[in-house]
Amino acid sequence: MGQNAIHLKSVDSTNSYATELLRQNSIPEGSLIYTFEQTNGRGQRGNYWESEPNKNIALSLILYPSFLNADKQYLLTKIISLAVADLMAEILEYSEKTGKVKIKWPNDIYIGAKKIGGILIENSWRENSIQNSVVGIGININQTQFKTTDNSISLALIASRQFDLMDIIEQLCAFIEARYLQLKANKLGNIDFAYLQRLYRLDTWNHFSSNNEMFEGKITGVSDSGKLQVFMKSNETKEFDLKEIVFI
Ligand code: BTN
Repeated sequence: MGQNAIHLKSVDSTNSYATELLRQNSIPEGSLIYTFEQTNGRGQRGNYWESEPNKNIALSLILYPSFLNADKQYLLTKIISLAVADLMAEILEYSEKTGKVKIKWPNDIYIGAKKIGGILIENSWRENSIQNSVVGIGININQTQFKTTDNSISLALIASRQFDLMDIIEQLCAFIEARYLQLKANKLGNIDFAYLQRLYRLDTWNHFSSNNEMFEGKITGVSDSGKLQVFMKSNETKEFDLKEIVFI
């Protein structure tokens, strides 16, 4: 990962740039497109991804996970979220004070109750498998003030120091590569075990709503296709997709 790296001084969105590259050229797997100034970062559900210039990392990796069927596509999100979360934990060597690094389903990286990073994976399909995948990752590193949300946090806010952006990109590539090789080798047990350790609100009773109805449930996992599995008071486990459940 990242052997073939394209640094852009400024770009609207590294994901859009990567998608355009894929249309025009053949690009080696693991190619990295990164910038420290993203002017129109795209987030999940059409949201804008805020990032102050020269403070944070915004990158996209190009992958060809043709070994993943449509019903297993979420495994890619799982390994990418894990790599980001594990790296954040390693950098912070988190203590009780900094709070634990968690993956908030479906693809947010949280520290305590605040978001430090987000992932936007855009796949293109051939028949039933992924032809290519643009893995977009944004992590708040040295930014200390946020305009658009009040639940953002950065490494600098937690650690009260500045970080070298390039160092973090290199480490991130190494973490992602290790997990990607695990996925390719079909070591799903290892991946799931590590993912569950990091899953936000795992195995505790919490309030959710679905179809405007409140209920209590315990998150027990996430299926390979990406549905949140929740154990209900009625003793059954139900699966929800993104549009079907809200965290309260
Ligand atoms: C989210 O939490 O909503 C996902 C945010 C993803 C942001 C990254 S930054 C690099 C890449 N390029 C984009 O335009 N978006 C992703």
